[in-house]
Amino acid sequence: MNIAIDGPAGAGKSTIARLLAKKLGFIYVDTGALYRCMALYYIRNNIDGSDAEKVAKCVDCIEVNLNYQNGAQHVFLNGEDVTDLIRTPKVSSMTSNVAVYPAVRERLLDTQRNIASENDVIMDGRDIGTNILPDAELKIYLTASIDSRADRRYKELAQKGEDVNIDDIKADIAERDERDKNRKTAPLRMAEDAVYVDSSDMSIDEVVEHIFNLAKARQ
Ligand code: CDP
Repeated sequence: MNIAIDGPAGAGKSTIARLLAKKLGFIYVDTGALYRCMALYYIRNNIDGSDAEKVAKCVDCIEVNLNYQNGAQHVFLNGEDVTDLIRTPKVSSMTSNVAVYPAVRERLLDTQRNIASENDVIMDGRDIGTNILPDAELKIYLTASIDSRADRRYKELAQKGEDVNIDDIKADIAERDERDKNRKTAPLRMAEDAVYVDSSDMSIDEVVEHIFNLAKARQ
């Protein structure tokens, strides 16, 4: 069974998907980590994220792999485990810049489809229900108000000890939403057959329970 969860930054996709995967015995695939990994390569190699030609040219120098250690996803950039290096605001911003290019998205297509064809997965991202797994048995569009999304992201980064400012985070999220929704290739949008879930006033447990019940009904 494949479950697709799409939605904007800070809606709670990764927290919810991780908990659900545990409850259902599925693998959680965080596709954002794959795009982040490519972005890290461009940052490290001083490639300008707005230079479409250069970004596309480098796609073949990048190998991105996933593996699972005690149920946790690890992402590898040309053989190096970069799981802990891809969560910074700088990487977030570069990621949504380069995720607009078809060459970048194409590079990650098979990685995503192969893992879903071989396993029961909960996969989160922006275009999973619309593009990567159009036949997923359950599709969720998970969102929340911009204020609650910014607040969640602020707490998450502050807890990690990062020096963050709520207004910067809100601006970053709004800018990424805009870019993700308006890009030409595989934009963020709700699949026609997706279930819309607004988590602004729901606890994590409530969202997990709700989606768990939907999954059970379709299993
Ligand atoms: O959790 P958050 O939204 O901050 O980050 P993420 O899910 O890791 O995604 C980071 C960026 O990667 C997004 O802003 C998108 O531009 C891009 N992305 C994408 O284009 N397609 C996906 N399936 C996943 C992420």
